[in-house]
Amino acid sequence: MKKAMVVLMVMMLLCTSLFAQGVQEDGKQFIGLAMPETHVERWQMDGAALKEAALALGYDAEVTFGDADQTKQNAQISDFITKGADILIIGSVNEGVVTAVADAKRDGVEVIAYDRLITGSDQYDYYITFDNFKVGQFQGKAIVDALDLESATMSDPKFITLFAGSPTDNNAFFFFDGAMSQLKPFVDKGVLKIVGPAPLSSDDTANFTRIATENWRADLAKQRMENLLNGDAKNYTLDAVLAPNDTLARAIIEALLTDAKYRTALPVVTGQDGELASIQFIKDGKQTMTVFKDTRDLAKAAIDLADALLKGETPEIAGARLDTTTYDTGKKVVKSYLLEPVNVTKDNYMEVMIDSGYYTADQIR
Ligand code: GAL
Repeated sequence: MKKAMVVLMVMMLLCTSLFAQGVQEDGKQFIGLAMPETHVERWQMDGAALKEAALALGYDAEVTFGDADQTKQNAQISDFITKGADILIIGSVNEGVVTAVADAKRDGVEVIAYDRLITGSDQYDYYITFDNFKVGQFQGKAIVDALDLESATMSDPKFITLFAGSPTDNNAFFFFDGAMSQLKPFVDKGVLKIVGPAPLSSDDTANFTRIATENWRADLAKQRMENLLNGDAKNYTLDAVLAPNDTLARAIIEALLTDAKYRTALPVVTGQDGELASIQFIKDGKQTMTVFKDTRDLAKAAIDLADALLKGETPEIAGARLDTTTYDTGKKVVKSYLLEPVNVTKDNYMEVMIDSGYYTADQIR
């Protein structure tokens, strides 16, 4: 009898310890996937692609969306930890995520920052994203080329107004500085004039904040564009608008179309994310370009990174460049894997977005 009790106790302890380490009842390890929001379409695709890639490697996985509310996302992360997650892949909303990252670290759960650097923390080691500076360079170069700024003169300058992404999103600073690396030489020459707030670097905090868009909200971008049309830009005809992603680009275009000046001739408007509605806008000549960041590739790379870390192996991430110097959280420089973004215009959207299978031809009218 005593021996049976001992065996039973050992079995119970073994089950408890296995569950605590995240080995689910089905014997699989568990990956928690915390995405920031769904109002920007691409995150829905990221969540689906991450879960698919995790299941394909034999993991359990669950996706949550934080509705751009970091408190909500922190609760979701805490729930993953309680469920015994072995690793977390987090696309954060803002720096408030650091408390959840600290909790994960305390419980021995590794965190991978997904496409948004987690600033203010030294409690994690890896970031996986696209080359965000290059995303901005594509946006800036599109404006340089479309306006032929190389040939522009001070006597006939071109006019631009600037938008940036969320000030809570570290990527927004890289996007802006990448674009400005292309545009600033023409501002300095006096052939490109900035209408409205005119930061030439994201270090110009006061002016960068004036062009930034909290939580990437389309309604705020639309309102600000309308304010510009009735204010700083009232007596100008804009030749370009630097828009940091597709959601904001379409909101800005919607506002521009309310102004008779632009109803038949929109300025150059940039974007990012290859959202379906913006591919349609590009085909229709309303939006000039977008930057495709294939969420299928990013998701696969993130899961491959998680897989290597869970197996205690040195990560070898196909299609990604390892950067060990650029991405500083403010507490440490994290090892970052950067995938290559792709510039998309009217000339190549079929090849990049349709032939790649990301969208189908019948999705584009
Ligand atoms: C950024 C991301 C962009 C865009 C934006 C809006 O962090 O890098 O691709 O999706 O968020 O959510």
